[in-house]
Amino acid sequence: MPAATPRIQERVDALRELLHHHAYRYYVLDEPEIPDAEYDRLFRELQDLEARHPELVTADSPTRRVGGKVLEGFAKVRHKVPMLSIRTETDIEASGARSFDARMRRELGLSESDPPVEYVAELKFDGLAINLRYEHGVLVQAATRGDGEIGEDVTQNIRTIGQIPLRLNPLPEGERGKQEGSLSRGRERAGVRAVPDVLEVRGEVYMRRDDFERLNEQQREKIARGAKGEKTFVNPRNAAAGAVRQLDPAIAHQRPLSFFAYGWGEVTPPERGGPVFDTHFQFLQALRAWGFPVSPRTRLATGAEELVAYHQAVGRERDSMPFDIDGVVYKVNSLALQKKLGFVTREPRWAVAHKYPAQEQMTTVEAIDVYVGRTGKLTPVARLAPVFVGGVTVTNATLHNEDEARRKDVRVGDTVIVRRAGDVIPEVVAVVPEKRLHKARQFTMPSHCPVCGAEAVREEGEVDYRCTGGLFCSAQRKQALLHFAQRRAMDIEGLGEKLVDQMVDGNVIRTLPDLYRLGLNALASLERMADKSAQNLLAALEESKHTTLPRFLFGLGIRHVGEATAKDLARHFGSLDAIMDASVEELLEVPDVGPVVAESIHTFCKQPHNREVVEQLRACGVHWEEGAPAERAPKPLAGKTIVLTGTLPLLSRDEAKDLLEAAGAKVAGSVSKKTDYVVAGAEAGSKLDKARELGVAVLDEEGLRALLGGA
Ligand code: IVH
Repeated sequence: MPAATPRIQERVDALRELLHHHAYRYYVLDEPEIPDAEYDRLFRELQDLEARHPELVTADSPTRRVGGKVLEGFAKVRHKVPMLSIRTETDIEASGARSFDARMRRELGLSESDPPVEYVAELKFDGLAINLRYEHGVLVQAATRGDGEIGEDVTQNIRTIGQIPLRLNPLPEGERGKQEGSLSRGRERAGVRAVPDVLEVRGEVYMRRDDFERLNEQQREKIARGAKGEKTFVNPRNAAAGAVRQLDPAIAHQRPLSFFAYGWGEVTPPERGGPVFDTHFQFLQALRAWGFPVSPRTRLATGAEELVAYHQAVGRERDSMPFDIDGVVYKVNSLALQKKLGFVTREPRWAVAHKYPAQEQMTTVEAIDVYVGRTGKLTPVARLAPVFVGGVTVTNATLHNEDEARRKDVRVGDTVIVRRAGDVIPEVVAVVPEKRLHKARQFTMPSHCPVCGAEAVREEGEVDYRCTGGLFCSAQRKQALLHFAQRRAMDIEGLGEKLVDQMVDGNVIRTLPDLYRLGLNALASLERMADKSAQNLLAALEESKHTTLPRFLFGLGIRHVGEATAKDLARHFGSLDAIMDASVEELLEVPDVGPVVAESIHTFCKQPHNREVVEQLRACGVHWEEGAPAERAPKPLAGKTIVLTGTLPLLSRDEAKDLLEAAGAKVAGSVSKKTDYVVAGAEAGSKLDKARELGVAVLDEEGLRALLGGA
């Protein structure tokens, strides 16, 4: 072993200092300054140095301590059974699962001729671990993990989480220690009570991505209105941790939290009437029967290859999941084998976490540009040194608006944390302050539109700056054309971003009606436009002229008029003229149209140049069938919420949606207790699982048709 040089000692000291600082930011303040992946890297570097130079290990080194710190302000709870952590398989590839299986077989003394080991494969939820204690079936205490031995009593806050039962459902007679293929336990089972005297359930409190986005949106609005002491959250995990450790339960209650159970602590033993289980999987089933949410993606897996398949399948689904996971967890299923395998320091030998690429990474800001949207909204965007995050390479990340960019104080040259989770747009969540090398200038919003030079204004009470150039601004014109041409609007096939750029920059078109005045000559004059493509585009334009009123309305790009509102307007008024001439009061009669939306529609319709555009489009041949005002049309599915998932045999997703909406149903994106039906086709995934979990009625395409037909 080479002796440690003063330089190594220095590095070890520096690493401890850094880790100490970041552990405090993370565990105590719930405000990390660096991504987890970076923390892990520093931690591993220290671990490596200590392994190579054991003489440098000190009792207070961060590597000697597991988990977090106990927060002041909450009563302390000593865990009856310590809350452990899990060893992480560093190998992201399939071999991570294989090396775990090989290790289990070796430690269990199995030879090649022995049968494969059975495992339970679970998701590794990215939230915070909680111990829930039930006495005689009633929730009496909830505690955080803390340092594994002592946690914080957060019972009040946890009680506000709807998914956590306050009282256990009694287990039905047959469920009390169901033993697959084991009859010998029959007698022991006789005395098993429906609810154990003591049951500690462990699981993860987390925040769904949509709840997180909504919460941060609200926080941004509060900050914009000048509220003091409010902040946005870096990621769902920190938002969840912050909510659970919020000293005011009323505030905790406003933060939408969810829960999954995956383990247990102290449980009344069988000899005192407690439940009897042979496997982890049986225990999970009992947890479900007692009333806990257990992830429907939990699977039994036999041998290494089924673990590999699970890791890959979950990896593919990760982006579309409603919550963050940072990996999967494999656990030996047999409780007898778990016992045999035992523990190393604070980790069980029988479980391992197998990770995925991190959803947060560090990179540097090369520039801050301002992007002009369809409605003139100016969005600051950080141009980044390419970074692999959440499974893709990211080069741009939104800074949302001026306030956010200022609050985060992002500057060119800064090292920042970028987050990309699910299909959400990548976001700069924070600057790493200690890495700011030079004095770059603070970002300010330009006073003029970077594209057309018109004045940019931020209206009273708004968070966004807008370019006042309207359709004079080529950026807005381009976005307006793309919006008009998109599939859900006029559906002009082949009119994409590149072509629109070319046509607007080359002054071939200025307004929407110009599209329908294009001739073969004008198109053929564009660079890289083959005759064939020009003809196809003209055919697509011709075809798009026959449309529907909701599509046309949506395509006009009136602020605050999305697809749903366009449909409501068309249904309510029946004709475009009726909408164009409606007063604000009349517009307010439309379901779901509030004052802001009504005002926006009214303003749009009053402007002569907008009326002109509409007239010209009609003159060019754009037409649709008009109907009678709504009252008379029956809406048999009014008030019903329906979720579509998977591929239906005949109907496309859009067609099914249109049919349902025409019948008055609301088509939602995610399944909740309020969902009336889930219509599931081939390859339906998590939404179908969720429906089953919540007991929501599931229909196939035939069932959907029956519902519509009968309706
Ligand atoms: S089991 C005996 N299962 O990961 C092992 N933990 O590093 C105890 N976690 O603190 C944990 N999903 O917060 C287990 N399906 C899962 C998990 C899970 C997330 C978290 C948990 C724990 C940490 C361990």
